[in-house]
Amino acid sequence: MSDFVGKASEKLKKLSDEQVERLIATIQEENDIFDSILESLSSGIIVVDRNWKIIKSNKSVKHLVPLFSNYREKKDVLWNLIDNEEIGTFLKNTAASNVFNVSQEFSIVTENSVTFIVVSILPLVKNSEIAGSIISITDMTAKRQQEILLHRMESLQSLTNLAASVAHEIKNPLGAISIHIQLLQKAVKKCRQGDGNLPDEKFMENYLDVVNEEIDNLNRIVMDFLFAVRPVKVQLILSNPDEVIGKTVEFFRPELEEHCISLNVELCNDARILVDEKLLREVIVNLVQNAKSAVESRIDDDGAKVMVKSFIKNDRYILTVADNGCGMERDTCEHVFEPYYTTKSNGTGLGLTTVYKIIKEFRGDISVTSEKNRGTVFTVSIPVPQKSTMLLEGGK
Ligand SMILES: Nc1ncnc2c1ncn2[C@@H]1O[C@H](COP(=O)(O)OP(=O)(O)O)[C@@H](O)[C@H]1O
Ligand SMILES: [Mg+2]
Repeated sequence: MSDFVGKASEKLKKLSDEQVERLIATIQEENDIFDSILESLSSGIIVVDRNWKIIKSNKSVKHLVPLFSNYREKKDVLWNLIDNEEIGTFLKNTAASNVFNVSQEFSIVTENSVTFIVVSILPLVKNSEIAGSIISITDMTAKRQQEILLHRMESLQSLTNLAASVAHEIKNPLGAISIHIQLLQKAVKKCRQGDGNLPDEKFMENYLDVVNEEIDNLNRIVMDFLFAVRPVKVQLILSNPDEVIGKTVEFFRPELEEHCISLNVELCNDARILVDEKLLREVIVNLVQNAKSAVESRIDDDGAKVMVKSFIKNDRYILTVADNGCGMERDTCEHVFEPYYTTKSNGTGLGLTTVYKIIKEFRGDISVTSEKNRGTVFTVSIPVPQKSTMLLEGGK
């Protein structure tokens, strides 16, 4: 309220009629501004008193949450006016627990659409006291759809990268085959024009061996490509990831210890996220195998370590696989998830591509930090589903 209104209302009795009229007009004007701001917000706003009865709400509320008809007339607590059991229960539980600053995501399913909304509850503070709550309701559907679109675009982009890598990979064997066939053609031509004798057997066999070898290479490239592009069959199930991770890393322990590599495992064990256990195992196997070869190729082999750790942070499950191995140059770091990228003589360069693909299917992210000759950390982060999302996924 403006200073003028504040001061004037203190001296109400001493004011002339004209001044009172001015005061009312000012109050009206302020109220109109406040109302039009509230009405123009795209988020739904409901203000309730300490008993959770509505003091004020804007029209966006009606577009976002299903309300019982004639809700404005009803002088009931808020959760009895909202025609959605889940949201109602959330509001009721929040009121009972007397906590503020909470928010939760909900999906509202109607006959032909699904809307994702976030309901947040903030305290309404008046004269340094809590006088009620402000409930804000925000539509997240567009953001969600954008995330799905982004996921699709990323898949398309990785397919394009993969196609480019395959094209590059097959160029070398094709070149080699072409050169050796030309040499054979030349030899045959020479023999036709000369004494009619074919070049000696060894010479021919050597060339044919190279051609055969390169055909094998092409075959491997095609098989690897098919492996990399095969759609991952994912069956996301709400489970404790640390159970699978724990078992999988323990499987490596004897082998690591035999190579004097110590294995530290620190798992939080109380996370529940949506994963496919078989694919999660594939992720761990790849990351631990890479860590093992990194520590094996260290300059000194004292105190070689592989560390696997998990914890929850900001509604996300975080898993780190770290090693104090050979580390990577910045340039290598930037390419590790690309198909066929390998620095190993016997590597396929597809391990981390597969890991990346799987983590994306879990709606997660993976990143890497590394320092040459010091070590590497791979960090996987997967969202911990909120109650409403779990229900939605479960119903899929
Ligand atoms: N923990 C690690 N430490 C150092 N370099 C790594 C590590 N993990 C992966 N890399 C690098 O990333 C490359 C790609 O890894 P990956 O896709 O698993 O293929 P591959 O293991 O067959 O080479 C490796 O060749 C290596 O250069
Ligand atoms: Mg690998």
